Amino acid sequence: MANGNLAEAKKTKNDEFYTQYYDIEKEMSAYLEYDPDVFRGKTILLPCDDPEWSNFTKYFAQNFDRFGLKKLISTSYAPESKNHKSFYQPTLFETNDPQYDQNKTTINGKIFTLTYDRTGDREINIEDLQWEYLDGDGDFRSKEVTEMRNEADLIITNPPFSLFREFLAWIVEAEKQFAIIGNMNAITYKEVFPLIKENKIWLGNNYKINGGAMFYEIPEDIANLDQVREIRTNEDGKKIYITRVQGVRWFTNIDHGRLHQPLPLMTMEDNLKFSKHKVIRSKQSYDSYDNYDAIEVPYVDAIPSDYEGVMGVPISILDKYNPDQFEILGSNRGVDQDPNGVYGKSSYINSKETFKRLFIRHRR
Ligand SMILES: C[S@@+](CC[C@H](N)C(=O)[O-])C[C@H]1O[C@@H](n2cnc3c(N)ncnc32)[C@H](O)[C@@H]1O
Repeated sequence: MANGNLAEAKKTKNDEFYTQYYDIEKEMSAYLEYDPDVFRGKTILLPCDDPEWSNFTKYFAQNFDRFGLKKLISTSYAPESKNHKSFYQPTLFETNDPQYDQNKTTINGKIFTLTYDRTGDREINIEDLQWEYLDGDGDFRSKEVTEMRNEADLIITNPPFSLFREFLAWIVEAEKQFAIIGNMNAITYKEVFPLIKENKIWLGNNYKINGGAMFYEIPEDIANLDQVREIRTNEDGKKIYITRVQGVRWFTNIDHGRLHQPLPLMTMEDNLKFSKHKVIRSKQSYDSYDNYDAIEVPYVDAIPSDYEGVMGVPISILDKYNPDQFEILGSNRGVDQDPNGVYGKSSYINSKETFKRLFIRHRR
């Protein structure tokens, strides 16, 4: 396979990773802990989902009453549009339903809605979900899914990795609350960084398991065994293949407690004496960049509490970022260049290029 095709195939497969229930629950719990009514009376849209596979639909349907939701809408993308149709087999849930349509099953997306106690068992839960075929394939950019976006208060999903920028722009233009999963690298994208800088979006709580990696379920037929970390059997007897992706984060504009916790820091003098990093202890002072009026801080926990100027810090600062403690000024990647061209260029120390950095300053 030519390199281009290989990259394409990998991209397509990564687009079919499914989020684990536990990770959804952990993140949503952080929002609920901060504001127990965060979902009350709200319409939640879960686009780019596949409710017959997805834990997002399961999680919100099971908690519909507890969260006081008004409406849950979930849409799926048609298998024919997915570039690797081979694994698709309609579920019994679909084929046993009177509205099953052989002509639509692979080319139409589906919409699942939950609003009331359809079964009459006095609770609204997953049994009450209703579904029908969409007119189109369920592409989030289509008119019909965009109309659902406009109706929703919150949009929550793990969108296709390859369309992350477009997906985020689609949410932001409608000014909706959201929580979506993406790669940490997206932070310096030109579509994303200005929003982070202006504190319009931030990273989620990102409860850390396995050092910032997230585990995903992948459908058996597209599971590449090199990627598979574990094989489990779920409650329906279906094999679940688990893969691990590094550097994955929740991006959101929903408030949560971690955002308001100040990062505990030592003074510059104490860092130079007591830092747990030898490279800091072994210096007389922090390095300055050749081409930026800023000091280089190679570890987040080595940010000096008493430095008044600009500091270049690893992008992982955003995992601990508190907008009342710091101000983000720029990045040493090609985004958000200031009028003097200071920010947005690579940063150098003694002519050696440094890692990706965000430039920050204490807010006093
Ligand atoms: C990373 S998976 C996540 C699935 C599910 N949201 C979850 O987290 O378990 C992304 C999903 O988006 C679908 N998808 C790909 N391109 C899409 C598009 N243009 N519009 C809507 N959905 C799309 C994929 O088929 C896949 O089901």
